[in-house]
Amino acid sequence: MTSESSAMLRPVKLSPDGRVLHLLDQRSLPEREDWLDLDDVESVAEAIERLAVRGAPAIGCAAALGLVASSWRFSDDTVMFRESCLMACERLARTRPTAVNLFHAIAHMRGALAECPAGLAVAGVRGHLHAAALRYVDDELRACLTMADHGAPLMPEVGTVLTHCNTGALATAGWGTALGVIRRAHASGKKIRVLADETRPVLQGARLTAWELRHDGIPVDVIADNMAGALMARGEIQAAIVGADRIARNGDVANKIGTYTVAVLCRYHQIPFYVAAPWSTIDPSTASGAEIPIEERDHNEVHLHGGRRMTPAGVGARNPAFDVTPAELVTAFITERGVFRPATLSALMDS
Ligand code: MRU
Repeated sequence: MTSESSAMLRPVKLSPDGRVLHLLDQRSLPEREDWLDLDDVESVAEAIERLAVRGAPAIGCAAALGLVASSWRFSDDTVMFRESCLMACERLARTRPTAVNLFHAIAHMRGALAECPAGLAVAGVRGHLHAAALRYVDDELRACLTMADHGAPLMPEVGTVLTHCNTGALATAGWGTALGVIRRAHASGKKIRVLADETRPVLQGARLTAWELRHDGIPVDVIADNMAGALMARGEIQAAIVGADRIARNGDVANKIGTYTVAVLCRYHQIPFYVAAPWSTIDPSTASGAEIPIEERDHNEVHLHGGRRMTPAGVGARNPAFDVTPAELVTAFITERGVFRPATLSALMDS
């Protein structure tokens, strides 16, 4: 990456020989750009759990590529190798429950494993997994670039766009979902200013979205999450666009905690609220948002700020990492397959 642009940053990469997973450690940003080199499944799983890599599509990519890197530690016996691959998939599936992309990536890799004939030597099986993982990541990147083409025309010619959490290159295979739409709109000449919700408690907006946009030269101001309503009331926001961790069959959207609040505010102020996500984020097996598992994270993420405890000792906290926005609050879904109104999307899912 050059220091001028993060647009084509690839935060999740496999070494050319397939033995090492390279992850840009998102916990160090924006102060430092540290890369982790991982080659065993436990380290990959912990990197996902501890948010070294985060963002629904990026988690899926890390799992697929991480399985390949980890597989060099598995037995040379083909039966035991396959068994270890399946156990690795199970470990990776226990890392974060909400983003369906993780389970999609794991299913993709299990499918690749199942395609290998029983007698195929370990080198052949690993080669097949390697190719499948690279294909998965390439498809995810292509989806981002295509959804940006579909979404950019929806952005205002001149105006301010609110976004929540981080949905950029860091959260994906590269380029980004909602932030990718903003990137494309800016590149096409639209005069867009971004308001980035800081996104408490982990500050993905303040630390990561602001970092990406700053590198790209796209004007950005960070706001505390509780400021969006007041700025909407003053007419300072023309559109909101967010990503998604899982979209249920009826169009309900699980995304970073605080997204629902933004959607409600948008409806009240009659501001369009867009969700940009690859098709792989839609989970046809989940009927509605009520069925989406919501991750509850360590309460210290709420108690502590910059390492200092902000709440009195003995006080509890709640820390649901995601919320569910009802489909009816979504103006349109922007995907690589086109732009869909909620009713159209759910009709497609049911057909
Ligand atoms: O907890 P995180 O940082 O993994 O949550 C990420 C989000 O909620 C993103 O908005 C979502 O994954 C879409 S990313 C393209």
